[in-house]
Amino acid sequence: MGNNTFNIWAIKLETVKLWADLKNMPDENISVLLDEKRVFKPSEKFVNETNVKQWMDEHNIKNLEELHKKAEDREWFWKEISKDLVEWYKPYDKVVEWEAPWVKWFVGAKYNIVHDALDKHVKSWRKNKVAFIFEGEPGDVQKLTYNDLYIEVNKLANALKKLDVKKGDRVGIYMPMLPELPIAMLACAKIGAIHSVVFSGFSALAFRDRVNDCEAKVVITCDGFWRRGRKVYLKQQSDEALEKAPGVKHVIVFKRTGDAVPWTPGRDVWWHDLVYGMPKECESEKLDANDPLFFLYTSGTTGKPKGIIHAHGGYAVGTAYTLKWVFDLKDEDIWWCAADIGWITGHSYIVYAPLILGATSVIYEGAPNYPQPDRWWALIEKFNVTTLYTSPTSIRLFMKYGEEWIKKHDLSTLRLLGSVGEPINPEAWIWYYKYIGNEKCQIMDTWWQTETGHCVISPLPITPLKPGSATRPLPGLSADVYNEEGKPVQNAGGNLVLTHPWPGMLRGIYKNPERYKETYWSKFKDTYLAGDVTRKDSDGFFWIQGRADDVLNVSGHRIGNSEVESALVSHPMVAEAAVIGKPHEIKGESITSYVILKGHITPSDELRNELREHVGKEMGKIARPDEIWFVSDVPKTRSGKIMRRVIRAKALGKDVGDTSTLANPEAVDEIGKAK
Ligand code: WT7
Repeated sequence: MGNNTFNIWAIKLETVKLWADLKNMPDENISVLLDEKRVFKPSEKFVNETNVKQWMDEHNIKNLEELHKKAEDREWFWKEISKDLVEWYKPYDKVVEWEAPWVKWFVGAKYNIVHDALDKHVKSWRKNKVAFIFEGEPGDVQKLTYNDLYIEVNKLANALKKLDVKKGDRVGIYMPMLPELPIAMLACAKIGAIHSVVFSGFSALAFRDRVNDCEAKVVITCDGFWRRGRKVYLKQQSDEALEKAPGVKHVIVFKRTGDAVPWTPGRDVWWHDLVYGMPKECESEKLDANDPLFFLYTSGTTGKPKGIIHAHGGYAVGTAYTLKWVFDLKDEDIWWCAADIGWITGHSYIVYAPLILGATSVIYEGAPNYPQPDRWWALIEKFNVTTLYTSPTSIRLFMKYGEEWIKKHDLSTLRLLGSVGEPINPEAWIWYYKYIGNEKCQIMDTWWQTETGHCVISPLPITPLKPGSATRPLPGLSADVYNEEGKPVQNAGGNLVLTHPWPGMLRGIYKNPERYKETYWSKFKDTYLAGDVTRKDSDGFFWIQGRADDVLNVSGHRIGNSEVESALVSHPMVAEAAVIGKPHEIKGESITSYVILKGHITPSDELRNELREHVGKEMGKIARPDEIWFVSDVPKTRSGKIMRRVIRAKALGKDVGDTSTLANPEAVDEIGKAK
């Protein structure tokens, strides 16, 4: 086992080196900057004006080291931090209660996150402040103030009650990037219902699985939306999903495109009809701070996606703290987190944290390169965006288009940048710094996961940066790198672990406590296993190298190898499949599959396309394999386990190591030939 793991690390390290080998750099200066191994420091003026520096001054803390040290008193730290961010209906008795692996935060408090996201703002000067600036792909713009949002949420919350949605009930939400998506989420939260949002790019079948797993009784969707100039007919997809979802009693449909949609009378209801005449006030349910707020499904190594549970109180504190400190969010900012709300990044940093802080955020419906590769830069210029949070995949895509698209626009309002989802290669970092940030914006490379709820390893705007490193755990949060024996290691690859509970920590996997314990808590005692291979350098900086397990990271999104394999095998012509990830210049990783066809089926390019589309239909477009190779066998152990590690090594032309334990060593050659 130990050995295998090390081989995986070797491959992952190769991946990192591959980045450095990328030759098509647009500018020679970038290589020069890289060679300098520069540490990027923020200006003194910038530092002095940050939220974190202000907090340090108020607490007589002189420097970053002292801040980290003081924050080790976690009880004290989270008490101080939460004071500025949230308002409880009833104060907590205890900051944290930890009975590994179960945690409770702000024990005894009565709370609802919607109080901080909306209710408190409409009683303040922020009532008429813009909460969301929305731009649709066709160019339509809508601005919603905190008061607008408050009224829309209340009306929908009242409507949900009318449909008999109660505290603890689950609501499945299948919606694109429209303001109605946060409205739907907040309406659920307001009445204590649990939302389970499914990314609108996922297929009908993926939506079905998730709706059934969480036993949703109501679904919220829309007729369709715009993507790359075309319409996506989401209601049709939703109907297909619900053909086999007997628990769903009502479907609320928001009208976006105005096209005719299939309709099931008695079940389906238009959003606008439902909320018509509903009262504009709806009291937020006074919940326990540890009551669940939402489920969000994410991939693991085996079986079905896991329904990660997050709760109201701790999640509110953790997300708001990180947005305020890492992204230095202030009232004057125009914040743009360019992720999709269907993923955790959007839940935390488009919906909840920005609203808690009373910020103004941008929501954009469409594709980044539509109608031209400068759509994002046009948006930044048009709305005076000050802070942009995006993924390395997007950055690499824009690098490919070239700087001329950027130079057409005035991006001088930007003051801070962020990156999330996958390791950012130093080339992309420098390019982001130079061309988007104009060499004046620090880059916050934030490491976190669906499970962590908020950023964990990340710079603060006052941290000196090394391109490619997410730097260190934030104050109050703690991570380390352990070897297989559970000993901390430095300057060597190891397992990334979180050594203490944190406020936004997941509260389990829905209906599966055993899987929760097994996945995260069984390798090291009372210590959270993140599943990433990481190296800690001599300065204590963390370099995340990628997943340690059989989970792919495609464009910053998690996809289980085994999920793609089962999607392939569900095709009637496929007998067996093995899926691996290969380094990809833009997407980080691409999906490569080796397929064994049944009996007399003849391989063909048509079949290849058919299988690709089949996976798209089963899972969603993002999971479609980039490469499909037909083989007669794949390397397996004697117990029949597919050796993805060996396949990957062979496919990348690396040393496959010892194959003597394989049941069918000759299959390795076939992989080589398929290449
Ligand atoms: C996995 C979590 C957190 C929101 C988006 C992804 C990878 C995430 C970084 C980063 C290197 C990163 C890890 C992690 N990851 N951020 N800054 N540097 N890797 O959420 O789908 O739950 O995936 O994304 O592998 O485990 P997710």
